[in-house]
Amino acid sequence: MNQNSFSKACRDAGTEFALSRMSRIAVLAFLFLGCWASVSADFQGSTHMMPFDEDTIAYSKTVANDAVMALQKKLDSGEATLKFEEDFGYARSLLKELKVSESSQMLVFSKTSLQRERITPQNPRAVFFSDDVYVGFIPGAPLMEFATVDPKLGGVFYSIEQKKMERPRFVRNDQCLECHASAKTMGVPGHLVRSFATDEAGIVDLASGTSLVNHRTPLADRWGGWYVTGKHGDQLHRGNLIGAAAFERQLKEPNHLGNVTDLGRFFDVSRHLRNQSDIVALMIIEHQAHMHNFITRLQYESTIAIQQYSHVNYLKNTVTAFLKYLLFTDEVQFTSPITSSSEFATHFTSLGPRDSKGRSFRELDMRTRLLKYPCSYLIYSAAFDALPKLIKSTIYTRLADVLSGKDTSADFQGLKPETRLAVAEILLDTKPDFAEFWKRSRSVAVSE
Ligand code: HEC
Repeated sequence: MNQNSFSKACRDAGTEFALSRMSRIAVLAFLFLGCWASVSADFQGSTHMMPFDEDTIAYSKTVANDAVMALQKKLDSGEATLKFEEDFGYARSLLKELKVSESSQMLVFSKTSLQRERITPQNPRAVFFSDDVYVGFIPGAPLMEFATVDPKLGGVFYSIEQKKMERPRFVRNDQCLECHASAKTMGVPGHLVRSFATDEAGIVDLASGTSLVNHRTPLADRWGGWYVTGKHGDQLHRGNLIGAAAFERQLKEPNHLGNVTDLGRFFDVSRHLRNQSDIVALMIIEHQAHMHNFITRLQYESTIAIQQYSHVNYLKNTVTAFLKYLLFTDEVQFTSPITSSSEFATHFTSLGPRDSKGRSFRELDMRTRLLKYPCSYLIYSAAFDALPKLIKSTIYTRLADVLSGKDTSADFQGLKPETRLAVAEILLDTKPDFAEFWKRSRSVAVSE
């Protein structure tokens, strides 16, 4: 049984009534063990809800310290102003002020949003992102949507009215948590990327897909409900397929809507800032959204553990899972090269930082895998840096052991010695607190 049909069997286990009592128990025991084994083999992190509105985290009561609040202050003081355009409202001006590149544009036509009735395959929602801001823009919709990354709170959600105003105001909107804080965001307020087949109107077929897409998701399961531009050779995916007929044709004529560079055949692209829904941008956001949720999950779990026990010893498995994701173990392998359809790839790569040999975690591979040096660039993010000291030193201890080769556990065996060395060298050059930690721990090891 492959992973997908097996997970489906796991889901269906509770609805199996036709069996006799004994065989039902045997089947359930088998499924339970099987589900357990498949979950642990493909561990993406815990997903049960964290109590984020209790006193320790106090999510809703805490004013965010993020890019949107910083821009609001500038708007209030007159240091920044927004330009309203007939076609796009504040979209272009907001992206500029929030330093989010237009080249990151991706288009999703499945009806998933607070403004779902505005989204159709003819009027898809554009999503843009940077390291700490995600933006949603639907042509003609009354609101623009924003999800930021607050270093302590995780995902924080805002909307702004798309009409010409004297004083444009972001409104924090915790209604968004209905979808943005669930098992699909690892039980914390966070970010979502999914893949479902839709009908001709963009209505999602919930039985058809993957509710949590990240860098481990096979390409064949990705991008249901999304437009995709860029080249990917003979690799199949579900992007650009709208309605059952398109999916059926895909069976006989693989990639009949693959390797697309022009979306004009699907809808009027002039209502959007760009005519692209870039494949590389999609793959980066898929890595990033889950990484952000993981960082938030660790922030919450460790803050609560420290308050309760004054230590984080119970979080060892979480740290292992976190590091596995950070270091791209179990990443899906490409079978053909993938190329960007916009200048997104160049933009992303240019962001650095680079080490003394010019290497950076943002260099793309795109022949067999996403990044040339498999370590998430979000290790430089304010959210990673805001993790409590105790959990950060637990992460650094294990990371140093993995990179130095001292850790020989099966979890990291896929990392080749030269990869470990390159990642260690880049980190030592570009991440000062890790370099400090490494120096200290090595000198202790030598003097022991
Ligand atoms: C009905 C469920 C639902 C609600 C409510 C909802 N969203 Fe989302 N949102 C989604 C889904 C699902 C995605 C991912 C797109 C996809 O894969 O279809 C998403 C993606 C996003 C993204 C881009 C990626 C990310 O997660 O950061 C932003 C930004 C966003 N939503 C903002 C908001 C804001 C702001 C609100 C509240 C005003 C909101 N959303 C309410 C379902 C919802």
